[in-house]
Amino acid sequence: MIDYGWRILRLSLIISIITAAMIFVAVRRFVVSPLMGVIVNVKAFQENPEDPARIIRPSSRLGEVAEAEQALAEMQEDVLTALRERSRLASLGEALAKISHDLRNMLSTGQLIAERLEMSRDPLVARVLPKLIGSLDRAISLCQRTLDYGGAEETAPELRQVRLRALTREVAEGLGLDLDAGSGPGSGPGSGPGSGRVRCRIDIPEQHTVLADPEQLYRVLANLMRNAAEAISAGGGPGEIRVEIDVEIAGTGGGQVIRVHDTGPGMPAKALENLFKPFRGGMRRGGAGLGLAIAQELVRAHGGELELISSTTEGTEFAIRLPAGVDTG
Ligand SMILES: Nc1ncnc2c1ncn2[C@@H]1O[C@H](COP(=O)(O)OP(=O)(O)O)[C@@H](O)[C@H]1O
Ligand SMILES: [Mg+2]
Repeated sequence: MIDYGWRILRLSLIISIITAAMIFVAVRRFVVSPLMGVIVNVKAFQENPEDPARIIRPSSRLGEVAEAEQALAEMQEDVLTALRERSRLASLGEALAKISHDLRNMLSTGQLIAERLEMSRDPLVARVLPKLIGSLDRAISLCQRTLDYGGAEETAPELRQVRLRALTREVAEGLGLDLDAGSGPGSGPGSGPGSGRVRCRIDIPEQHTVLADPEQLYRVLANLMRNAAEAISAGGGPGEIRVEIDVEIAGTGGGQVIRVHDTGPGMPAKALENLFKPFRGGMRRGGAGLGLAIAQELVRAHGGELELISSTTEGTEFAIRLPAGVDTG
């Protein structure tokens, strides 16, 4: 009897152990490991939500877990779409801001030229000029408002040999600066940022060329020289902007350095702290703080570097360092 009882007990123990083991294996296989899979996936997705390969593929055979995996996959898909949309919009906004910044500068040049026509006695000019100036004004203020948003990639520079003196002269004329005798045909007193009291000296030989994208180099110089002219005017002027070229000596790579000096009052601390950072360093009313950021990006696209050499109460100097081109020797 006792012996029989023992056997029953042993048998029940064995059955219990086998059942427990089976339940353990089943729970592990069908619940714990799929859940672990979900947890691992959530962590991986969290690390890089922009990688579509990290979206979970539902694989569980247990109804509830499969449902959870499905819901998670859908949510990850939505997050991915939202992220893509956001980054597209961000680059669009940035591109728009950069275009607006430089478009505003070009329109300002147009406005400057239009204002000079005010002196004309031609009745036709007198009649249409206010309308022209009005619409330029509106276009400039539209660009200004667009600048409240945020720069995608510029197009790659199309390099060719550019006559630097002529290009610089064009920039100076566009800004209404007084060109020094010997710097080319003077534009007379202007009413631009220089107000006729900013002289411009170009210390570059007529024949000198640099390997660059002329349009982009124009924009770089225009940004630097406009800032310089604005700084001189803000400091109560008169003053001078000097643009010169240094050909780097052998051993330093053989590149070229275009230097832009001004006799303005120097950069404000906030601009220095946020040098080249878009939207941060702008100090002027109406300025977006984009000019230097754009100029630096354009120079970098040339494989060069834009550097602030010095900025004191006596003036500011920027250097545009361009690498030696493959075919410049
Ligand atoms: N040559 C300079 N002399 C003095 N201040 C300068 C000079 N260049 C730039 N700055 C300062 O740096 C700021 C940022 O310049 P920039 O990036 O061109 O933006 P923005 O001209 O749109 O304000 C300017 O607002 C100005 O205060
Ligand atoms: Mg500027």
